[in-house]
Amino acid sequence: RNMASQRKHKVLVTRTVPQAAIEILKTSQSCDLDYWDSEDPIPRDELLKRVAGLDGLYCLLTEKIDSELLDAAGSQLKVVSTMSVGYDHVSIPETTKRGIAVGHTPGVLTDATATLTVALLLATQRRLIEAAGEVKNGGWGTWKPLWMCGPTLSGSTVGIVGFGRIGIAVAQRLAPFGVTRFLYCDVHKKSESQEKLVSPKAEHVDMDTLFKESDFVTAHTALTPETAGMFNKDAFSKMKSNAVFVNTSRGGVVNQDDLYEALKTGQIWGAGLDVTVPEPLPTNHPLLSLNSCVVLPHIGSAEDSTREAMATLAARNLLAGLAGESLPAQAKL
Ligand code: DGY
Repeated sequence: RNMASQRKHKVLVTRTVPQAAIEILKTSQSCDLDYWDSEDPIPRDELLKRVAGLDGLYCLLTEKIDSELLDAAGSQLKVVSTMSVGYDHVSIPETTKRGIAVGHTPGVLTDATATLTVALLLATQRRLIEAAGEVKNGGWGTWKPLWMCGPTLSGSTVGIVGFGRIGIAVAQRLAPFGVTRFLYCDVHKKSESQEKLVSPKAEHVDMDTLFKESDFVTAHTALTPETAGMFNKDAFSKMKSNAVFVNTSRGGVVNQDDLYEALKTGQIWGAGLDVTVPEPLPTNHPLLSLNSCVVLPHIGSAEDSTREAMATLAARNLLAGLAGESLPAQAKL
């Protein structure tokens, strides 16, 4: 086979990613690689220029993959591979219409994201950020029985919205803290064996019941037209006044104005968010003025080996798509 005479696949990688992924693409010798080797997102106009004539696009959740972009790419585009498990930034109707394969990175970030979720839940419930701040700003007086207290995790009911890979892993990590009940909502009731992956066994309930009976509510759903803004005034009004709400999924599932009101008025006790709209959240955002709200900068999967696993899976998805093979991890249509 004469590689030189064989046309290489035109590929764009839209950000600096772990080097192992770039090595995979280079080693394949099948890619003519355009690499936006920068910590910052590629500007939209630059992206629209560079996608022209691509066979494969390796992107992140910061790139909106819509009809405009797909048209700019051209009909030869075979595969879009995102280095993320979430793919709400990819218009699946548009890729499907054009016969473009879409790859994502499920599984490899489940542990990291579930662990961060627990860390964020604990940080919110035990007021870690606020408390550490008091040490630095002189607010630490003497030991006081009623100071820096929060709701109790042991003996609590935890409600999991979206009982998939990450939701289940969160429940498993919380179980050893002595949680008494796990409630979950999901599009589908899970099998008995899935419900038993956590002890005590998770109970499938309707959303109202979950909101009303949970001391902790944690969101692990994909962002879809059905889930957009689902944590709104109505939802928060059903929750307990000592409820802690945690979101490590997508900011778009929360109505942030309603969340602010719910926290401000004491409708719920606290919130921990790893995802917001927009990202970054402006530093003058009202949510940041509340001690009861802990906001992290979308770091759910931020572990070295996790990011490397995501990057290399995305590279393998890309190569499979270019070769016309089925993807190791294909997005659901
Ligand atoms: C994802 O993968 O969808 C996260 O938001 C980033 O890890």
